[in-house]
Amino acid sequence: MNAPIVVDSVTALRAQVREWRRAGRRVAMVPTMGALHDGHISLVRIALERADRCVVSIFVNPTQFAPTEDLDKYPRQLARDLDRLREAGAHLAFTPGVSEMYPAGFATKISVGGPSSGLETDFRPSFFDGVATVVAKLLLQAAPDCAVFGEKDYQQLCVVRQLCRDLDLPVEIIGAPTVRDAHGLAMSSRNAYLGEAELGIARQLNVILRRTAAALSTGTDEADAIEDATKAVISSGFRKVDYVAARASVTLAPWRRDHDGRLLAAAWLGTTRLIDNVEIASV
Ligand code: PAF
Repeated sequence: MNAPIVVDSVTALRAQVREWRRAGRRVAMVPTMGALHDGHISLVRIALERADRCVVSIFVNPTQFAPTEDLDKYPRQLARDLDRLREAGAHLAFTPGVSEMYPAGFATKISVGGPSSGLETDFRPSFFDGVATVVAKLLLQAAPDCAVFGEKDYQQLCVVRQLCRDLDLPVEIIGAPTVRDAHGLAMSSRNAYLGEAELGIARQLNVILRRTAAALSTGTDEADAIEDATKAVISSGFRKVDYVAARASVTLAPWRRDHDGRLLAAAWLGTTRLIDNVEIASV
């Protein structure tokens, strides 16, 4: 595979995408913060199935980190990421610096309602403003035909869909299934923070969520199921549970038993916060 073209300016990104468009190519985008793992690579594969050209952005977006969060410590490994993109067949890596995305005087914030309320927002109040603002910018900068986001960040996917619908952004949003290791642990750049013993504990989260989703599907009372799941996450070795919650799968409104749902969770393992989610099949 050829190495991807690497550009760090919006002008160069737009020039390349314009050239592809003129040649009649369909363009897909995969927004990332780098530290690429198999989950990201699966997004690139899906992008390449849906389009002729794949742009991957690598930008650790400061506006989605609270001052107390891991912005400085977030893994950065551009050379390795570019190797992985070459192997995967991505065509262009957009690697802007902070001043390209947020030049001096930048003063706009996009705040999405609906699915952004609750869950992550209860614990990271400005997270989705940061995500929505940077995703809107990336989609306007690259102007792709479609963009691929992982279901691992399920609330983020719902927020991005709402953003594009509300702002009439002419891009198809494609949700991609979560990639898991052989033990069911969802791939995440933050797994790099975990030691071997912690990985063993982290792998329990998905087991507990799947068991709880099955119990909900077969009629277990919602409050009892959530309480049991929360206790099981703590017993398995997590330090703290931010939430385990059943929600409607598109709006993230409270779940109704006769509708498709999603069971979402966030929990702390030492100083690392992990999130995961699974489907709740309707009965
Ligand atoms: O999911 C991520 O990696 C980030 O939230 C995103 C969508 C690239 C925006 O910074």
